[in-house]
Amino acid sequence: MSIIFNREHLKGFIEQKDINKISSRIEKAHNDLEQGTGSGGEITGWKDLPSRIENNFIDELVKLGEEVRSYSDCVISIGIGGSYLGIRSSVEFLREYKIPIHYAGNNMSVDYLHHLLESVKDKSVSVVVISKSGATTEPAIAFRIVKQMLKEKYSEEELKKRIICVTDGEKGALRHIADTNGYRSFVIPDDVGGRFSILTPVGLVPLAIAGVDIKSLVDGARKGEEEYSKFDLENNIAYQYAATRYLLSKKGKHIEVTASFYDNLYYVLEWWKQLYGESEAKDGKGIFPASLIMSTDLHSMGQLMQEGARNVFETFIDIERPNHSILVPKDDEDLDEFNIVAGKDLDYVNTQAYKATASAHFEGGVPNMTLTLCQADAFHLGQLYYFYERAVAISGYLLGVNPFNQPGVEAYKKKMFALLGKK
Ligand code: PA5
Repeated sequence: MSIIFNREHLKGFIEQKDINKISSRIEKAHNDLEQGTGSGGEITGWKDLPSRIENNFIDELVKLGEEVRSYSDCVISIGIGGSYLGIRSSVEFLREYKIPIHYAGNNMSVDYLHHLLESVKDKSVSVVVISKSGATTEPAIAFRIVKQMLKEKYSEEELKKRIICVTDGEKGALRHIADTNGYRSFVIPDDVGGRFSILTPVGLVPLAIAGVDIKSLVDGARKGEEEYSKFDLENNIAYQYAATRYLLSKKGKHIEVTASFYDNLYYVLEWWKQLYGESEAKDGKGIFPASLIMSTDLHSMGQLMQEGARNVFETFIDIERPNHSILVPKDDEDLDEFNIVAGKDLDYVNTQAYKATASAHFEGGVPNMTLTLCQADAFHLGQLYYFYERAVAISGYLLGVNPFNQPGVEAYKKKMFALLGKK
């Protein structure tokens, strides 16, 4: 059970000896992260979070999930950014939810919310509203609207069962709303930033209610913490990945495309884009994170990857053992001449498409690497989350930025508040 890192298609671009040459800088980044002496050190509580999560707390959340499911047909998870993407990426990757989970507060499209409210109006609904600051516009307004619908359906007492708030322990409007109305609430630790919060109640509460195997998710992250927290450039693949992308960016490869031939990784890649975009891109620096889902995007962006401007590198996420098997049937007429793969698993064909693409892109001048998850399960997803968190902290420090803030996100808010007349 593990994640395997393949660097075959970096030959001629980045070798282990290039990584070794910057080992003292990687060691400094590692020490700064470990000792909290790097910029944003006060918000690096995620780094040993998996090993600090109490098993009793996981059991408590599993029970909460059973309870909420016993009187709910569906759950609405309200949040944006780090209070949204980790939840959705886990649910959609695992496809193992026990009740439908809907999302609100991640956009302000009126038609989207209208259709969501219509689709749940005759259902028994519970809500998890998540905001670390407790003050973000999009989820705050969505919560108002959803709460109004719930108030028309349920008594005040019933609302106390159906509304769960995940927010700061003391500050913010959402904390105030929870305490004033007696809604159940969970605290997001001060020292864990939004996009690093999937293993706090931000992710664990809605995932437990959806019925996702949060115990395995946390166990996988614990394995990630064990494997990727050591300064060991020969074996720590998170540090190898961080160093490789940093060195590639220094060679003019300013765009990283993470691609997968498994469509259930779509939202994992959205989560990854937030983690890397918000963490690295500041002070005029950063690598632009983009994502592709193959084969769909091979027939659109595949052209750009093969022959476009050579400022791109690529990271594939492969899955060794998908959860299901479909054999390609034999066709007596064989007009499409695909009896060559009759009797083979569809995943065999998909894997050849991945191998062919990685090799063609490499030959076309796109250095690429592959992370292979042995299985598409909660354990490996937890390990992958931790892998990416560790790696972005190191690559952010290598780039010379504070990977744990996001000052640029405030610019649109200031202008929006001015337009709305908000003080
Ligand atoms: O990474 C971050 O901190 C941000 O992307 C936040 O997660 C996002 O802005 C949502 O913030 P909040 O949970 O305070 O509503």
